[in-house]
Amino acid sequence: MNIAVLPGDGIGPEIVAEAVKVLKDLQLPLSMETAPVGGAAYDIAGHPLPPATLDLAKSADAILFGAVGDWKYDTLARELRPEQAILGLRKHLALFANFRPAICYQELTAASSLKPEIVGGLDILIVRELNGDIYFGSPKGIRNAPDGLFAGAREGFDTMRYSEPEIERIAHVAFEAARKRHRKVCSVDKSNVLETSQLWREVMTRVAKEYSDVELSHMYVDNAAMQLVKAPKSFDVIVTGNLFGDILSDEAAMLTGSIGMLPSASLDKNNKGLYEPSHGSAPDIAGKGIANPLATILSAAMMLRFSLNLPKDAQRIETAVQKVLVQGLRTADIYTEGTQKISTAQMGDAVVKALG
Ligand code: IPM
Ligand code: MG
Repeated sequence: MNIAVLPGDGIGPEIVAEAVKVLKDLQLPLSMETAPVGGAAYDIAGHPLPPATLDLAKSADAILFGAVGDWKYDTLARELRPEQAILGLRKHLALFANFRPAICYQELTAASSLKPEIVGGLDILIVRELNGDIYFGSPKGIRNAPDGLFAGAREGFDTMRYSEPEIERIAHVAFEAARKRHRKVCSVDKSNVLETSQLWREVMTRVAKEYSDVELSHMYVDNAAMQLVKAPKSFDVIVTGNLFGDILSDEAAMLTGSIGMLPSASLDKNNKGLYEPSHGSAPDIAGKGIANPLATILSAAMMLRFSLNLPKDAQRIETAVQKVLVQGLRTADIYTEGTQKISTAQMGDAVVKALG
């Protein structure tokens, strides 16, 4: 099995190195090939997603991705910015189903900014649609406003769009996922305002009829943002569009103590996937050895489970991460009094040791 390893920018290379360390220790029949992506690729090849990197990603069985982005690329034209690499991979590889589990490990309850009784034992899954919405909808651009009070002034515009089949396929993903959990799906939209959301809600309701064993509820996104901090444990699976999912998944991440703990999987219809931590490239802490590699290590576990059909090895990694937390080992982001602060590489080593 071939894994494309795309470390990217900022803390990307440091955290991916630890995940690779863990994968190597499992001694699986994996071959890993590394390629530049994001700003790192722009520096070398003049494009954030060079053809060679895209080809490698296309031909691989799965992709392990770090993070992209750095302030030093902020002045580049939009199509050359590092973020275009991850958006391009999602689109070119038709990775439309994004799984972002938010699990609050008992040991990390104190690291959350919320009260322990609100987040202790939290285990929710955000299913975010990844190929549509205002992220990719055309037309978009900056122009002179054709009408309205500010006609003639420069205006930016984007288009929110979802087609029925796009909503249907992510609905099925969410309902299937709920069947393996607590059989509850909450569909998040803004159907009191947006036409796109009205269609979204209609299609979700229709698909739900095929899953009579799963309970469907609907919630407006503003209320969902509130409920996530008020009573996050009332959710099981949240399914939502690309933009709302982007925002709610960062919010959910903080419930778990640190965004440094959250893995993610982005799958196509055949379960080929790209696996990345839910957090970004954090250029401010890059190279300091303080980044938390656990989200990337847990993403590697998701890769073994979803794309490579190696659930036992996935479980070994997850159990090892749990062990390390029980041992009181913490990177800076999840450090609380009475625990032991360790570096990025020491965390990787500790997970390897805990694999047994
Ligand atoms: C994410 C990130 C990306 C997104 C950025 C880097 C384009 O925030 O994966 O959540 O908005 O999807
Ligand atoms: Mg995001």
